[in-house]
Amino acid sequence: MTATVPAKPPSIVQSLPEGAVILPETEDHAEAVEVLNAFTFGPGRFAKTAYRLRRNNPPVIAYNRICMAHGRLVGAVCFSRVRIGTARALLLGPLAVHPDYKNKGIGIALMQAGMAAAQVAGERLVVLVGDAPYYARAGFSHVPRGQMEMPGPVDYARLLAHEFVPGSLAEARGMMRADPDTDMN
Ligand SMILES: CC(C)(COP(=O)(O)OP(=O)(O)OC[C@H]1O[C@@H](n2cnc3c(N)ncnc32)[C@H](O)[C@@H]1OP(=O)(O)O)[C@@H](O)C(=O)NCCC(=O)NCCS
Repeated sequence: MTATVPAKPPSIVQSLPEGAVILPETEDHAEAVEVLNAFTFGPGRFAKTAYRLRRNNPPVIAYNRICMAHGRLVGAVCFSRVRIGTARALLLGPLAVHPDYKNKGIGIALMQAGMAAAQVAGERLVVLVGDAPYYARAGFSHVPRGQMEMPGPVDYARLLAHEFVPGSLAEARGMMRADPDTDMN
C-alpha cells in the first residue's frame, strides 16, 4: 500500500499529565531507560530485527527523549542511525511508556519532541516497525511494499516512515543496515 507521507511534523499538540515533563536523555538516564525497556518489552526484544539493527549502533542521544513524572522515569524514545541502500535515515525505537502512565499523551509527546530535534538538525527520514494506527498519529505511514528490506524477519505491514525532506522516502530503497559512523551531531 502506498500512502502519502507528510513532510512536516503533525500539528497534534498533546497536553501531558500534571507533573510530567519531556526532557532530553542524558547518560545519567541510561540505566533507567534500560529498566523501562526491559519491563515493557521483556527479553524477547533482543530477537527482533529492529533490535539487531541497534546492536553495536549507539543511539543518537541528541534526539532521545525521556518523560519524568514525580521523580520517576516513565517514558523514553530512542533513535539510531541506519542506511537504506545509500540513503541515510533514523530508526525510531524503542518507544516505551510505563503502564501506570499509559494513554496520557506521553508516547506521542516523546516522539514529537525527539523528531522535532532531529528535523532541526537536518535529518531527512525516520523509519520504524510498529502499529500503523498508533504511529499515524505522529505522522508515520506505510513504506510501499518491496521498497525496503530488513536484515531479518519482519512484518512489512508494520514498516512505517515519516519524511522530513520531501522525496527522502522514495530515495530510501534496498537493504536497511546499521550506520553507526554517520556523524551529524
Ligand atoms: C504504545 C505506547 C508507546 C503508547 O504510549 P502512550 O503514552 O500510552 O500513548 P499516547 O497517550 O501517546 O496515545 C494513546 C492513544 O493511542 C492509542 N494507542 C496506543 N497504543 C496503540 C496501538 N498499538 N495501536 C493503536 N492505537 C494505540 C490509545 O488507544 C490512545 O487512544 P485515544 O487517544 O483515542 O484514547 C505504550 O502503550 C507502550 O509503551 N506500550 C508497550 C510498548 C510498545 O508497544 N511500544 C511501541 C513499539 S516500539
